[in-house]
Amino acid sequence: MAKLIIDADSRLSTIDRNIYGHFSEHLGRCIYEGIYVGEDSPIPNTEGMRNDVLEALKRLQIPVLRWPGGCFADEYHWKDGVGPKEKRKRMINTHWGGVVENNHFGTHEFLRLCELIGAEPYISGNVGSGTVAEMSEWVEYMTFDGESPMANWRRENGREQPWKLTYFGVGNENWGCGGNMRPEYYADLYRQYSCYVRNYGDNKIFKIACGANSQDYNWTEVLMREAARFMDGLSLHYYTLPTGNWKDKGSATDFDDKQWFDTLQRTLFMDELIRRHAAIMNQYDPDKRVALIVDEWGTWYNVEPGTNPGFLYQQNTMRDALVAGINLNIFHQHSDRVRMANIAQVVNVLQAVILTEGAGMVLTPTYHVFDMYKVHQGASLVYSRAESPAYEMDGQTIDQLSASASVDANNRLHISLCNLHHADALEVACEVRGARAGDITGTVLTSESIQSHNTFEDPEAVKPAEFRDFQLANDQLAVKLPARSVVTLTVQL
Ligand code: AHR
Repeated sequence: MAKLIIDADSRLSTIDRNIYGHFSEHLGRCIYEGIYVGEDSPIPNTEGMRNDVLEALKRLQIPVLRWPGGCFADEYHWKDGVGPKEKRKRMINTHWGGVVENNHFGTHEFLRLCELIGAEPYISGNVGSGTVAEMSEWVEYMTFDGESPMANWRRENGREQPWKLTYFGVGNENWGCGGNMRPEYYADLYRQYSCYVRNYGDNKIFKIACGANSQDYNWTEVLMREAARFMDGLSLHYYTLPTGNWKDKGSATDFDDKQWFDTLQRTLFMDELIRRHAAIMNQYDPDKRVALIVDEWGTWYNVEPGTNPGFLYQQNTMRDALVAGINLNIFHQHSDRVRMANIAQVVNVLQAVILTEGAGMVLTPTYHVFDMYKVHQGASLVYSRAESPAYEMDGQTIDQLSASASVDANNRLHISLCNLHHADALEVACEVRGARAGDITGTVLTSESIQSHNTFEDPEAVKPAEFRDFQLANDQLAVKLPARSVVTLTVQL
């Protein structure tokens, strides 16, 4: 039996909508095939973007979408991706499979995609192999309203008005694929490059510096010490690998109870990571002006057998649904500092919410968690304290329950609960303090087995259902969570 106490009249911080952000890179079949099929494709599309994917993404209310990378960002030269498509330069995507990139999806197409799905763009600029001028001109091209070489070129290319662009990343993983830099060197480059990322007219850019790889706390220390005053956000990347071994990460679908447990244990590490990076940030920025932006997170497995190893295509099971639910709960709990997160990646790559194959499309268990949790976007985090039984495996233990709660503008309390156990149900005695609970509705995502997943042949093997396994008496809510489940409850206050 677990206990959960919720103070419904507390208001801790706002859960920034951007915590529900996504990431789209020129990698494998994410952009091409997954989103962009071209106007001449037999797959129904809007200006080359497939309608089924657009509709599914709109339904998720994605607040922000990161592009064009990833590692790709630091070898991307934006000028090659504007103007008539037939004249655009072709390049080799050296990071991801060595395939030819024809640049048919560029700045105009990405910003149009954002308009079509109602997301804000988050663009990553090239520090590793690009120049200060190139980055500066990109911002001018997108956001300057007056007469200038770049604004005029944008008009020639068919876009009269500038776009609104808020989020701009100055490089990606510059400690690795973005230039193998030391933090001291990158901090100086960040100061230089970001200086020329200009605010034109009313457009105010939120500048994001490249942050640490997982537990590289020294990177955060140096960046905060040397450059905090020039940035609005500092990123953090952390991927969940079941084995912790990059050479053999484990299969996405063929795993046992132990690997299930290990994966969830490793994903829970996100909490410690955020705490420790935030503690460093607090020393330099006690007012929490600089946001921690977890702009790459999610599971990373061995690729699906028979697929291009450079394309990072993997299936997505109930285990991924738990990973999503746990991480979103962690981000909520740290929403005073974490104000954006971008799961990697939106379609066909890593922990994708959507998989495609030709004209077929499948929504993954991770998609359903994002859909169930979207009620938290912009709501106020309220205090909750969980006392959870231990979930034990081979002498290791983790909490069986992960939870968070928020109250929205319509005075509805949203509770998200994850039962991490692969086989055991969990009873939760939930005490709601500070308000009277009225009508309650619930949704559950669970599955027949730990490996259950949606395929093109069986796209609804894992799907949400109405949840009724709760009882309310004297402000005590007794909830029975099935094994391996994610449950959301909405309580009218
Ligand atoms: O998401 C895949 C890759 O992971 C990104 O390109 C890179 O930033 C990270 O290492």
